[in-house]
Amino acid sequence: MPHFLTLAGLPATTLTSLLDASASYKRTRPHGHPPWLNGKTVAVVLEKASTRTRVGFEVAIQELGGHAIVLTSVGSQLGRGEPVEDTARVLGRMCHGIVYRTFGDERMQRMASASGVPVINALTDLEHPCQIVADLLTVRERLGSLDVRYAWIGDGNNMAVSWIHAAAVFGLTLTLACPDGYHPDPDVVADARAAGATVHVVGDPVEAARGADVIMTDVWASMGQEAEARTRAEAFAGYLVDDGLFLHASGRAIALHCLPAHRGEEISASIIDGPRGEAIWDQAENRMHTHKAILELAFTGGAHGPIWP
Ligand code: CP
Ligand code: NVA
Repeated sequence: MPHFLTLAGLPATTLTSLLDASASYKRTRPHGHPPWLNGKTVAVVLEKASTRTRVGFEVAIQELGGHAIVLTSVGSQLGRGEPVEDTARVLGRMCHGIVYRTFGDERMQRMASASGVPVINALTDLEHPCQIVADLLTVRERLGSLDVRYAWIGDGNNMAVSWIHAAAVFGLTLTLACPDGYHPDPDVVADARAAGATVHVVGDPVEAARGADVIMTDVWASMGQEAEARTRAEAFAGYLVDDGLFLHASGRAIALHCLPAHRGEEISASIIDGPRGEAIWDQAENRMHTHKAILELAFTGGAHGPIWP
């Protein structure tokens, strides 16, 4: 089953084709209804909050001629403890695909194993692959190439891990500045280095930002970590992406943030609402365009089959 669960191990040609197809969907909007989704139903199952992912998938599915059913924990039996496998089997019998946001990665694996239909990872505690496809498209649009210098400031979380996966796919240069205790999984870093990426993990945000073309950050406490918010706020003090940090970056440097953002915590209002942060709003819009290409990949094999339109 052609699930879309991770960027890890994705051939560079497939990820490049995903970006090309996304750009094509963006350019040709509004476009037609491809036979692989027209009249079909996709379940969008959200066990965590979502704005961009939910709207991006609902609009993408609707514009491709399909129908989306959104299920959240509250109001579905998942929230009352129904096993993932049982939900997966039932959804797989009624729907043609599943977009799933959940907590532990093992729940994603269980959904994918039991559903019998394509499953798309819309975020776990471990990874956020759909977001990084949109981020890469944004960098390509703004800077004309993916072969630039990337800095990640803050938590070595799901976003950071998916960025390290992308660095491995394309052999990118990525420096992450993370406080002690919040580094990304060293095995993920080691795998990326073995695949040819230049990945460094440092403690000093200035060291990461020096010469960077893209400075990225994310919330200090991700969904599910709310109880740790105070401890994390102490650990991450000093990991603010602001004008001072941008002084060390390249002249053309842009900021990226997957959103939602906390102004004055991980990113200053002057950056997110200023010229350096303009790409952040493209990044959010690009979720919807890239979702179309991701759906196509999951439903048809995408890059290795016909690209629609
Ligand atoms: N960036 C992102 O995934 O946003 P949502 O949580 O709003 O879907
Ligand atoms: N790291 C964040 C990303 C939100 C889109 C979280 O998991 O909550």
